[in-house]
Amino acid sequence: MTRGKFIVFEGIDGSGKSSHARLLKERLEAAGHLVWLTCEPTDGEAGSLLRRCLTGGADLPEQAIAGLFMTDRLDHILHPTKGILAHLEQGEIVLCDRYYFSSFAYNSLFAPMDWIIEINRLAREILRPDLTLFLDIPPESFASRMTGRGERERYEKIETLTRVRENYLKAFAALPDERVATVDNARPIEVAAEEVAALAEKVLAE
Ligand code: TYD
Repeated sequence: MTRGKFIVFEGIDGSGKSSHARLLKERLEAAGHLVWLTCEPTDGEAGSLLRRCLTGGADLPEQAIAGLFMTDRLDHILHPTKGILAHLEQGEIVLCDRYYFSSFAYNSLFAPMDWIIEINRLAREILRPDLTLFLDIPPESFASRMTGRGERERYEKIETLTRVRENYLKAFAALPDERVATVDNARPIEVAAEEVAALAEKVLAE
């Protein structure tokens, strides 16, 4: 059986990656492909602890959280029945909402990016995406949707997302052997979705 392709969606909060992943799944299924849509953090053992950290239900240092993302990722890749590799080996196309570039962009707010890349080395060796799609939006457009929050909170969010976006660009530049395509998602979603589909179909045809 031919191994399936692995396509990752990345972007800052509110960049529309989840919507694009869903749209692409529908489109590929309509064309007869078997598609598995998954995301990180997962709902596995490490992922559940991570989600509790993200919602304030568990308290760990940021560096330890970076390690947990890496642990969750290895579980996500290698789990013998539910893992990404297991799905790819069944010939399925795997679409993943966030993968290691999220660690490089977000967790490097709190630790050196080189170290984050280093602790994710095994993941990069075992399973590199066939394509990473970076959905790009200006950080202000997410913050403008933060209704009912104070001006200060909005300002802080724009500042953080600006740094996350810069970290993404820095990580793409630092890892030129990764196949990354940037899609401008400040455009209407149907327009960006056509570009996403064309990029994915090119990879599937290889
Ligand atoms: P997610 O559930 O995708 O939230 P959203 O739909 O808002 O993008 O991700 C939750 C948070 O986890 C998000 O703020 C990004 C962060 N994150 C990391 O910090 N490192 C990682 O490796 C991953 C996968 C996510």
